[in-house]
Amino acid sequence: MAVRKDTIFERFLAPIFQNFLIDRDALMRYYKSRDWEQVSNRFRQPNFTYPNYYQAHNFHGVEGGYLSLGAALSYDPITQYVLPPNEAWVRQELIDRIRCYPRRILDLGCGTGSMTLMLKQKFPQAEVIGLDFSPYMLAVADDKANAAEVAIAFLQGNAEATNFATESFDVVTAALLFHETPPEVSKNILREGLRLLKSGGEALIFDGNQSTLRQTEWLTEIFEEPYIKAYAKGNLDAWMGAAGFEDVRTEQVWWVHQITRGVKPLPARSPDHPNVAAENNPAFAF
Ligand SMILES: C[S@@+](CC[C@H](N)C(=O)[O-])C[C@H]1O[C@@H](n2cnc3c(N)ncnc32)[C@H](O)[C@@H]1O
Repeated sequence: MAVRKDTIFERFLAPIFQNFLIDRDALMRYYKSRDWEQVSNRFRQPNFTYPNYYQAHNFHGVEGGYLSLGAALSYDPITQYVLPPNEAWVRQELIDRIRCYPRRILDLGCGTGSMTLMLKQKFPQAEVIGLDFSPYMLAVADDKANAAEVAIAFLQGNAEATNFATESFDVVTAALLFHETPPEVSKNILREGLRLLKSGGEALIFDGNQSTLRQTEWLTEIFEEPYIKAYAKGNLDAWMGAAGFEDVRTEQVWWVHQITRGVKPLPARSPDHPNVAAENNPAFAF
């Protein structure tokens, strides 16, 4: 198992979170309220294998990374403070950039489902699926969806190679995923997202602002994030363009975040069949 790194969070912020910001009693009550092995087993696919980049590192200083219960239980209590100025506002920026009326949405690397829930609440008519590696994150996500009384399918799977049918989604999202994956993996995920989208379908990626992270190196050193420096050096617009998306645009959100939107191209037009895909896709009938 990887050794924990001495990050800014470990040195200065962890005691503040532990002693003042996190409601430890509530966390303990939640921990004790479930048989977590039993609950997480519901999400484990048989013979599932995790790639090395995922299981060989700690994330956020949690030993075992997302494959530990501690990471799943502490994720929401910490994340609410690390998406300035306000987690809900920032996540809403992704929702606001969806232009179609989707019938089917896939949230890749959904984690504890915060983004997935907001997607379902915005588009209650849509079938919404959250996909993640971690059975513990999925178990927490499922609890949240049940508490909010929304029907979301949370599934274990690899965002690089899902088993979903080609052209079966109107919207594919990835929130806070790409700063946690090596760039080659992020590019694979983008290609998979393109495959899954119908023509004209939208991909929305919310993550740290690559430009800001490049200029402000200490921001990449707050948490133990093995791939964040490689992410910061990259350019999501270029990655999406290379994957085959068009109309790609990244917008800075509250300086430290960015949201990138790209569209799966329509098939080539012919004089006899202009915009065939758009005509056949009810998500775009407005
Ligand atoms: C920082 S969390 C983001 C969670 C959530 N999307 C959010 O907005 O809070 C990153 C998540 O990506 C998952 N993950 C990383 N690589 C993945 C992959 N290739 N396929 C599926 N999930 C992955 C991790 O298990 C973790 O739950």
